Amino acid sequence: MKNVDVIVIGAGAAGLFCAAQAAKRGRNVAVLDHAKRIGGKILMSGGGRCNFTNMYTSHENFLCGNPHFTKSALSRYSQWDFIGLVAEYGIAYHEKTLGQLFCDDSAKDILNMLLAECKKAGASVCQQCEILSIEKLDAGFLLHTSQGEYQCESLVVATGGLSIPKLGASPFGYQIAEQFGLKVKPTRAGLVPFTLHEQDKKILSELSGISLDASANCNNVSFNENILFTHRGLSGPAVLQVSSFWQSGQTVEFDLYPNGDLLAQLQKAQHNQPDIQLSTALGQIYPKRYVLAVLPYFNVANKPLKQYQGKQLEQVAEAFHQWQLKPNGTEGYRTAEVTLGGVDTNELSSKTMEAKKVSGLYFIGEVMDVTGWLGGYNFQWAWSSGWVAGQVV
Ligand code: FDA
Repeated sequence: MKNVDVIVIGAGAAGLFCAAQAAKRGRNVAVLDHAKRIGGKILMSGGGRCNFTNMYTSHENFLCGNPHFTKSALSRYSQWDFIGLVAEYGIAYHEKTLGQLFCDDSAKDILNMLLAECKKAGASVCQQCEILSIEKLDAGFLLHTSQGEYQCESLVVATGGLSIPKLGASPFGYQIAEQFGLKVKPTRAGLVPFTLHEQDKKILSELSGISLDASANCNNVSFNENILFTHRGLSGPAVLQVSSFWQSGQTVEFDLYPNGDLLAQLQKAQHNQPDIQLSTALGQIYPKRYVLAVLPYFNVANKPLKQYQGKQLEQVAEAFHQWQLKPNGTEGYRTAEVTLGGVDTNELSSKTMEAKKVSGLYFIGEVMDVTGWLGGYNFQWAWSSGWVAGQVV
């Protein structure tokens, strides 16, 4: 039997960061993970460069049953605190766009920093350790694992979400919550590409590789970034963002000329070059291959501009400004960056992440019903929630 003060289940972003904080306070901490290779999601994140935070992080960048829940942790351990730590380790980084900070070199730098923080503070990390069962004791918890029994005062669950199962994702954190009588909100894939109905796919899959500026709108939220046509459907930042707000069966509206007035452009072209084809005029704005495929898809005839009456030109502009698409579904957890839903935040203290009903039991990171937008917000939640728990476990 191993006796420690704190056990953290899950050696991902939140778990490692929390373990280092607790160990710095002199607590004896063990992190247990069932995976062969730890920090898989960190290494894969941001295309291998880890978008580790966002300079503009605020509670408004998160989906959560309680929109105020994230405020306390984000203010006590903010993006600036984490940026300070990254700078302390001499890790070079840059802003890619919209406040998103990426490593210049490799996501490995962030994982190595977390492991160095654990090592320096004396937290141990144990890989390939299956947790077989958890029992509540009068004071603390008893864990039966594939590497023997552990007893601890505080138990931190940092098992993450369900996306990318091959990296060790499991529903274990939700099962622990349920074992202790805590509510878990239904889960679904977020920040995930859309798949298409056959009639859309037939035409749009031929546009694979084309990326356009667009704004994607659904359920009163709107994201103005790129969209990307793929051979499976639709991806790109604006699509990933809006996918977290989309419910099955709903329509997404895309403005494919989000920063201008297409009607005014076409009217000007009609006046200046009345003999050119509509496709030629649109080809000055969009890739030619895209224009030729979508005109028939939008049921728009291609003829010289002078042949369009005012109303018809309005209809052309409307087809591009208000493209209505009903996705067939999403690519699911196989490619999703995050899991929406999870341990209900009403069950947890927003100051410490401790379960209100079970003293000594904590949930941090993505396992709970807190999901960030695309852009470094999910890691910031891992750091902020891990840090606040690390001060008290
Ligand atoms: P995380 O998933 O990191 O860690 C959970 C750990 O628990 C894993 O090590 C797992 O093995 C372990 N575990 C699970 N079940 C267990 C069990 N039964 N027993 C023991 N251990 C168990 N975010 C962002 O802000 N910027 C970005 O650039 C990206 N990029 C990105 C790319 C891709 C491809 C994905 C899939 C995700 C991202 N994300 C992201 C999201 C980000 O990776 C994610 O939100 C955090 O890693 C969540 O941190 P956690 O520590 O909560 O879970």
